[in-house]
Amino acid sequence: MEKFYITTAIDYVNGAPHIGHAYEKILTDVIYRHFTQRCDNTFFLTGTDEHGIKIQKTSAAQGMTPKELCDMNANKFQDAWKRLGVDYTKFIRTTDDYHEKAVQKIFDKLLKKGDIYKHSYTGLYCSGCEAFLSEKDLTEDGLCPDHQKKPEVVEEENYFFRLTKYKDAIIRHIKTHPDFIVPSFRANEVLNQLENIEDISVSRTTANVSWGVPVLGDPEQSIYVWIDALSNYITALGYDTEADTETYKQFWPATVHVIGKDILKFHSIYWPAILMALDLPLPEHILAHGWITIDQTKMSKSLGNVISPESIMQAFNLEIPDPLRYYMASAAPCGKDGNYSDEDFKEKVNAHLANSMGNLLNRTLSMLVKYFDGDVKPEFRGKSGGKSELFDKALETVKEVKHHFDYFEVQEAAQKIVELVDITNKYVTDNAPWTLAKEGQMDKCGEVLTTVLEIMCVIASLIYPYCPNIAKSMAEQLSYDLSTKLDDITCDNIKAGHLIDKENIKPVFLRMDSELADKSKKD
Ligand code: MSP
Repeated sequence: MEKFYITTAIDYVNGAPHIGHAYEKILTDVIYRHFTQRCDNTFFLTGTDEHGIKIQKTSAAQGMTPKELCDMNANKFQDAWKRLGVDYTKFIRTTDDYHEKAVQKIFDKLLKKGDIYKHSYTGLYCSGCEAFLSEKDLTEDGLCPDHQKKPEVVEEENYFFRLTKYKDAIIRHIKTHPDFIVPSFRANEVLNQLENIEDISVSRTTANVSWGVPVLGDPEQSIYVWIDALSNYITALGYDTEADTETYKQFWPATVHVIGKDILKFHSIYWPAILMALDLPLPEHILAHGWITIDQTKMSKSLGNVISPESIMQAFNLEIPDPLRYYMASAAPCGKDGNYSDEDFKEKVNAHLANSMGNLLNRTLSMLVKYFDGDVKPEFRGKSGGKSELFDKALETVKEVKHHFDYFEVQEAAQKIVELVDITNKYVTDNAPWTLAKEGQMDKCGEVLTTVLEIMCVIASLIYPYCPNIAKSMAEQLSYDLSTKLDDITCDNIKAGHLIDKENIKPVFLRMDSELADKSKKD
């Protein structure tokens, strides 16, 4: 793989980040970190979407200027991602000067090409979607189905983009690239939407929407949010229609745009059309993830159940984000909806990370110290010369995990890792190294323990994208090089003479409700 460029949706900054935003950023970060284990040339872009009527109204209601509101909330997003270990390469804000200038040029280029034209229009505008809706999009009561609000009737002279010109090319692209829309079951939805598309409004009058990027040479019109927002994926790389920067050349087209299913239309219809109009190549994949509910209920301000990732971190007294990352990333099969509940979070994380994985490492290392003073002897390679069925299984799991990530199946990949942990636990139970030690079969006992430690090195690499801190702690205790690329993984890391640092053996993760966990936090 020569390069890997992944992006998230850029979040509206009319509020603080919630667990739905966090889900997407974590999912993306897990995919990104996995591909850093396969490729040296990677770029991860995220950011905030700061223009439009929603920000204008919210800032006015809060007695702030739009820019003040944007600055305040953009910081909250950046802080949240830092806390969650979201290791982005670049954070773009659509109010960044270079982005605004590039968007103006992109708009101007499309205008000069004749793909944007001026037109008087009466439409139904939903500020929640920041989009015009057609009658067909509305519920029986005339409400926006996503925001349960009556759209505003807007009568304006706006600029329009000739979306219809690109309709056939987009249909052809989707049909000839079955992996363009992931998961593929959503492609039909998009093809149906394409049947009824019309040209789209791409500007608003500044009289109605003043908080936007002004059209070059027509300051009465501001560029309406989707052209502004979608362009971030190229402007962040330095694209501005004239100078293609090195970064742009290196990374465009994107490998994958990770977005929620609610904005798939914008990414799989509008964005490809804009790119075609600019004569630019299309992204390889659009990954539309599902929706996260809280206790099986859709999050909404009116229900008062909007929760932030920080509130979960605090409620469980978490010092590292790994448990929340692991839980969120494995919350749903690829593209399907998932759910967050406190109980399930605690149960799953305790079972998988503390009881199965953490405990396996801790007791194996402890036994190696107890029986062998932490010393790995050459005899431990045993009669088999260090071959084990378990090694085949571990290397097979690496392949399976890679395969799932090729299809962005993050939950499914996590299940494979858990399976390997379970099989390894069973191997320990079946071979009972404590009994072997009691019976004086020391070489055999050492062979069992080092076999398990070999597998733990593989597990540290595989779990790293989900739990980078835990993986680091595992690798330190195993003296394993976590920067090993997935293609270079072997089961030949725990060599004779390998030193286990006796003083440094500690649980990599304590059960969330354990007394020990509480005590260690107080110390
Ligand atoms: N600003 C636009 C995106 C522009 S991308 C060029 C937007 N912003 S948003 O703040 O409303 O949503 C940002 C992302 O968060 C979207 O991908 C959206 O699907 C996702 N989520 C928002 N709430 C969510 C859940 N409850 N669950 C999962 N993801 C959700 O749309």
